[in-house]
Amino acid sequence: MSENPVERLLDSRLVMVTGKGGTGKTTYAAALAVLGAVRGRRSVVVELDNQRPSLTAVFHKEPRFQPAPVRLNLDLANLAWEGALHAYIESVVPSRRVTNLILNNPVVGRFLDFTPGSREMVILSAVGALVEKYDLVVVDMPASGHAFSLLDITRSALGLFRSGPVRTRATELKSLIGDSRTQVVLVALPEEMVVNETLETIARMRSFQMLHHQPTVFLNRATLPSLTEVERELLRRLVAAEDLLPLEREFVLAGRWEDGLEQATATAQRVLAEQLGVSPLLVPPSVPGGVPRDTVEAVAVHLGRSVGATRREIAWT
Ligand SMILES: Nc1ncnc2c1ncn2[C@@H]1O[C@H](COP(=O)(O)OP(=O)(O)OP(=O)(O)O)[C@@H](O)[C@H]1O
Ligand SMILES: [Mg+2]
Repeated sequence: MSENPVERLLDSRLVMVTGKGGTGKTTYAAALAVLGAVRGRRSVVVELDNQRPSLTAVFHKEPRFQPAPVRLNLDLANLAWEGALHAYIESVVPSRRVTNLILNNPVVGRFLDFTPGSREMVILSAVGALVEKYDLVVVDMPASGHAFSLLDITRSALGLFRSGPVRTRATELKSLIGDSRTQVVLVALPEEMVVNETLETIARMRSFQMLHHQPTVFLNRATLPSLTEVERELLRRLVAAEDLLPLEREFVLAGRWEDGLEQATATAQRVLAEQLGVSPLLVPPSVPGGVPRDTVEAVAVHLGRSVGATRREIAWT
């Protein structure tokens, strides 16, 4: 397996992207899928039963249950519950007529409502079906806590069902989650709370044996060091100075702001590296106020550098 973490992700079959809310999950899922497609792998990027899919703003197309092409080698889908349920029933019962009978049977509806985790199992099954069809499936997962519960469903299902099709499916999904070509990505920000949640999620996933590999952590919106120690000392002195003109004070505050961002990144990077044994991958913020599509492109270009993908290949045409 490649030493290059981005290459390793792009060579996988299934990449599940999670992280605390608002960290950049959707952006990274889209960027990784675009890179997979650029490298010639038949790729699909999916959201899971999202009522208001975020990938619409990136691809300028509403994702549906049936994957639809958005770029060369790249399809887009939203594994919504109804479609996933239909596909699931179809996969476990032989005839279409029986499928419709089951779907229209109120007892089945009630069974699904009251069987904990049945919804999640059905949606995970739809992910599994895509893995059979594509070279690379990238999933824009829910935020970490929900992503954990979703993946943990297979364990509960195995406890609940001693035999039968649900058990068979749960066993298949459990082995897909723990497969050597399945990877988990966590997107973090240089903030203490986010870093802590990232570490907690990884620890939980590890203790429940959901990870075959060390997950890849992206430290998004990272501010790389630019100030020297001498400049930082100067800033400290200037902050204390009382005889500054208003404009001079503004410059000093801007310097302090930059220093604060750099320190926060350095701390987050150090804590993550110490706890995980590998450094997170740092990605700087792209143009402020950029539209989602531009941000995805900027992140893909940044990540693509290490695998030789060019801006021209990545850019939307
Ligand atoms: N590196 C970056 N530079 C600039 N903007 C960014 C960067 N990463 C993400 N963003 C922007 O931050 C916002 C949140 O990102 P995104 O939607 O990918 O996060 P998310 O984790 O999927 O959020 P949610 O939890 O709501 O699903 C978006 O507007 C996105 O374009
Ligand atoms: Mg999102």
